[in-house]
Amino acid sequence: MNSAEIRQKFLDFFASKEHQIVPSAPIVVKDDPTLMFTNAGMNQFKDYFLGNKPAPNKRVADTQKCLRVSGKHNDLEEVGYDTYHHTMFEMLGNWSFGDYFKKEALEWAWELLTEVYQLPKDRLYVSVFEGDAKENLERDDEAFAIWKTMVSEDRILFGSKKDNFWEMGDTGPCGPCSEIHIDLRSEEEIAQVPGRDLVNNDHPQVVEIWNNVFMEFNRLADGSLVKLPAQHVDTGMGFERLCMAIQGKRSNYDTDVFQPLIRFVAVEADVNYGENEKTDIAIRVIADHIRAIAFAIADGQLPSNNKAGYVIRRILRRAVRYGFTFLNFKKPFLYKLAEVLAEQLAHVFPELKAQLSFVQRVIEEEENAFLRTLENGLKRLDMLEDKFKENNNTIDGKTAFELYDTFGFPLDLTALIAREKGLKVDEAGFGVEMEQQKNRSRNASATEQSDWVIVQPDVPTEFIGYDYHAAESHIVKYRQVKTKSKSEYQIVLDKTPFYAESGGQVGDRGYLLSDTEQVEVLDTRKENDLILHITSKLPQNVEAPFRSEIDAIRRNFIRKNHSATHLLHAALRKVLGDHVQQRGSLVNEKVLRFDFSHFTKVEDAELREVEAIVNERIRETIPLEEQRNIPIADARDMGAMALFGEKYGDFVRVISFGREHSVELCGGTHVYNTGEIGYFKIVSESSVAAGVRRIEAVTATAAEEFVQGQLDELHAVRQVLSTQSNTAHAVEKLQEENKALQKQLEQFELKQLTSLKDSLVQKAQQVEGVNVVAERVEVSTADYLKKLAFDMRQSLDNMALVLAAEIDGKPQIAVMLSDELVSDKRLNASQLVRELAKEIKGGGGGQPFYATAGGKDVAGLQAVPAKAIELLKTELVK
Ligand code: ALA
Repeated sequence: MNSAEIRQKFLDFFASKEHQIVPSAPIVVKDDPTLMFTNAGMNQFKDYFLGNKPAPNKRVADTQKCLRVSGKHNDLEEVGYDTYHHTMFEMLGNWSFGDYFKKEALEWAWELLTEVYQLPKDRLYVSVFEGDAKENLERDDEAFAIWKTMVSEDRILFGSKKDNFWEMGDTGPCGPCSEIHIDLRSEEEIAQVPGRDLVNNDHPQVVEIWNNVFMEFNRLADGSLVKLPAQHVDTGMGFERLCMAIQGKRSNYDTDVFQPLIRFVAVEADVNYGENEKTDIAIRVIADHIRAIAFAIADGQLPSNNKAGYVIRRILRRAVRYGFTFLNFKKPFLYKLAEVLAEQLAHVFPELKAQLSFVQRVIEEEENAFLRTLENGLKRLDMLEDKFKENNNTIDGKTAFELYDTFGFPLDLTALIAREKGLKVDEAGFGVEMEQQKNRSRNASATEQSDWVIVQPDVPTEFIGYDYHAAESHIVKYRQVKTKSKSEYQIVLDKTPFYAESGGQVGDRGYLLSDTEQVEVLDTRKENDLILHITSKLPQNVEAPFRSEIDAIRRNFIRKNHSATHLLHAALRKVLGDHVQQRGSLVNEKVLRFDFSHFTKVEDAELREVEAIVNERIRETIPLEEQRNIPIADARDMGAMALFGEKYGDFVRVISFGREHSVELCGGTHVYNTGEIGYFKIVSESSVAAGVRRIEAVTATAAEEFVQGQLDELHAVRQVLSTQSNTAHAVEKLQEENKALQKQLEQFELKQLTSLKDSLVQKAQQVEGVNVVAERVEVSTADYLKKLAFDMRQSLDNMALVLAAEIDGKPQIAVMLSDELVSDKRLNASQLVRELAKEIKGGGGGQPFYATAGGKDVAGLQAVPAKAIELLKTELVK
């Protein structure tokens, strides 16, 4: 069975058990501040477990793209070294939302594995939660009894909380679980050590393949567990491991999931996979990492310097580094692999193939940038080599950390390079630096969050902000969040007109008003489906009703900018082409910012055309057409853009301004008619990342102000130039005149310099047989002073010259000596200038024949010539 068949059989099996098969959610998580990436199939269903909203279907199954590289579940450092950990992996899952429970879940799991996939029963082990006294949780006798009807007792193991109680994160839905493990070792190995001794022992051939979680609890921030409103099933089967088991391989990488990627890398690197442990690890790292990188970018996460973007950047760099060090890839290579992957998975995850050229572009640019950094880091190491040699042949911890922090060199890379140079690395010192940095960032970001204080239990929030600016509201619950620098309250209301920041549109501001007080809402944010009103204090009476009212003037500007963003998007696609896709946006009351995929600078003419189209749509006064809560399929039929990245079960909102112009999925707030936007003006066009451009624009009064500002400036320039038209020509003329004058001035100065030189030659006096000139001179730049000194050297033999000048208000001294004075070591210009610089309260230096000094005290210049003659006399007599 190839991997595609294995995946399909899973989905078909659960479809036959009345499950709805749904698409994978994006690997990048929106709207959940507790999570950056999808780390389990259940993430997209979190709200159904918590009871925040009802599930449209009680039985669901899918294959979910997951990434475990941050937070509670993090496997990154293992990846490549072993045969069964991955950054991105597919998790096959089936779910019951308050429907079937343990019996069906376990019986179906067993049926699928042993009958459909025909895995041998005598190689399977199952585990059951043994209970936990501290948490007040009982042993899962129910699961044990169910397993006993199918599996002999010696294959059922009891496991502790660590292995048999699954939690999504520090808080959230959780419950006891029952795992299924498989022993893939040879008969001889099994004869020596029984499989049950190796379950959950990190053995590469005795691995967990399926986890059945019985979701019953919610873990609160204070660590306590509370019962969920209903009992659910959440299962997750590692697809790549399952393929290994069914295909009888000893490593996930030997299955057809990874082989196409591995073959490609091996050919590129001109090595054979399976011949050398080091190159094998590198190939596995790359074959694994490209999947995480490519899908994260396709799902909207560009590599960057913070948060989720930084995680992707680190994974990419890890891959580049292994390729660079062990496979001799000195040029970008990962981006080529993205194509192999896109083809391989086009039938399951079409989003990658659809955006392939964009994804490749981003990857290639990142690779280039990192390869440059690697090179700079290597140069830095070369430069410091002598220092390391003096330091007992050791790269000190500080430098190793600097390389890690600034150049992205992980410690093992530094160690590797060190070894090649016959050096060691002070790893303990590196550890100390690392710990210090961690403490710094821990202190900076530490937050303390209280549990929700429930005011009214089980009241859902109703958002009425599309239609109203104010409402009568009650508090449902609230909590306090403290960081080092601030403390805020997050308040959830039963009914609210406040739009929570999402889809690029900023959150509303406003007030919670009662007869006696006014609590300012500083911002509105979202956490999953909760709308959080951010305030710095609580209303005195949290149970009383109050009027919640948004800042409607601000919202009005936001609406205009948001609708203009849609018109801009449509116009860009029209002018530049259909490859233009939204990559990010920001809409607030002042500007709109729109990031989109496009590979070159947008030309001025194109920008003007885009602007003209948008303004035309505004003048056409197109009415808003809004459809709320329609199924995704209907939106697709309407031709809505941006359908990747929606979650199953989402009912979407579609915003159109003329079906033929602009149809978008959007949760934001909009004008009722494009005419309200008034006027649209692009302010700037720039690059944000490889293949991503950014346009900033303004609308309505802000657009008028912008244009007026430009006109005012032009007016001011015209007044200065005393011209009414053809300003550019007037400025050009001015520039030309300026250039001509500059030239004249230079010639004039050069002439002056020549006569100055001549008069200085005249002033030479004999001191101990040497031609000495020491004078205060007038020159305008340091360059002229230098020229003068060198010209003097041409004109006078056996010369000691000291020049003192004031340049740009600062004192300067130059000393020039003829070669014969230097070669017989009678004089040294550097020493002389340093001595003379004392007169001007300064310092300097240079070469033995020519040296300069600057200082602070202009008045001191006067004494320099006399002091110079005195000095020279003493030196020459010696
Ligand atoms: N949510 C469970 C897991 O990820 C099934 O293991």
